[in-house]
Amino acid sequence: MAGAPGTRSAGHGSSIMADAANRRADEEPAMTSEPTRPTGPAAPIVTAHQHQLEAELTDAVLASFGPTPDPRLKHLMEALVRHPHAFITEVRLSEREWQRAVDFLTAAGHITTDRRQEFVLLSDVLGASTQVINVNHEASANATEATVTGPFFTEASPEVPIGGDIAGQAKGQPCWVEGTVTGTEGNAVPGARIEVWQADADGLYDVQYAGQRVSGRAHLFADARGQYAFWALTPTPYSIPQDGPVGSLLQRTGRSPMRASHLHFRVTAPGMRTLVTHIFVEGDDLLDSDAVFGVKRSLVRPFRQQPPGTPTPDGREVAGHTWCRARFDIVLQPAAS
Ligand code: BEZ
Ligand code: FE
Repeated sequence: MAGAPGTRSAGHGSSIMADAANRRADEEPAMTSEPTRPTGPAAPIVTAHQHQLEAELTDAVLASFGPTPDPRLKHLMEALVRHPHAFITEVRLSEREWQRAVDFLTAAGHITTDRRQEFVLLSDVLGASTQVINVNHEASANATEATVTGPFFTEASPEVPIGGDIAGQAKGQPCWVEGTVTGTEGNAVPGARIEVWQADADGLYDVQYAGQRVSGRAHLFADARGQYAFWALTPTPYSIPQDGPVGSLLQRTGRSPMRASHLHFRVTAPGMRTLVTHIFVEGDDLLDSDAVFGVKRSLVRPFRQQPPGTPTPDGREVAGHTWCRARFDIVLQPAAS
């Protein structure tokens, strides 16, 4: 169908492919009949003719989105075509590899339920979730940085009062967490809604247990001065789920499934931008190798172990346990107007 490689093709009439081919011949005079060799193991030689065929297809698919009325959707679709086409042609993707990718995504779909989200996990281990956050949360004044939501957030959680305990049935060392919620001008954000969730000492979230257990998660509201406090569990490192296709991918690529110890927060308040973030435990060995690239230095906090017998802030009895405490002052940005 295409003419001689690197020449203007006369036989394409007015088809999109022909236009694309002609444009390319004009714009890319460097494309000669010299074959090129893509990089990578056992890379095959790709002729200029083959390159041109592939470029024509990419251009035809791009052109098919030309009539899209919504300019943002058009831009997204064009980039969504360009990048995978570049990937496929760069790596010379085999049909078997393509089928494996389809099987992988099918398996991710099959294992996903209301309580298990394999696609979020995939986005997380590829660093895509963190990159979306980076793109959308430019470092702003003194506002608290955002990080990944992860697959274990649930909209419904029990309310606890200030000073209440989010642990429920979850096992672990008690940890007192306190702080304030303010705006970037230092103004208190009274009544901010603070949702928290965390894994237990066995490294599991409530939603990973059989049944409808709700533990290690709750929400509370900051007081009139923006202050809050609650009992949680001292965060411990845990493995992200390894029993699905994402776990297999990590195994096959020699990657660690471990997340640095953390406690999740989602903070919302009228007129303020919602913040989804974590606090991480200072000194944790995994801070530099978090499986989902979620660690930001500004979110690392000391979790101070209290000597046995130290009275708790609210007089709670933790006999037989040690306890620890951490402080997290949260700074919210104003919502975009
Ligand atoms: C989490 O922190 O809960 C999490 C985040 C990303 C992937 C898996 C778990
Ligand atoms: Fe987590």
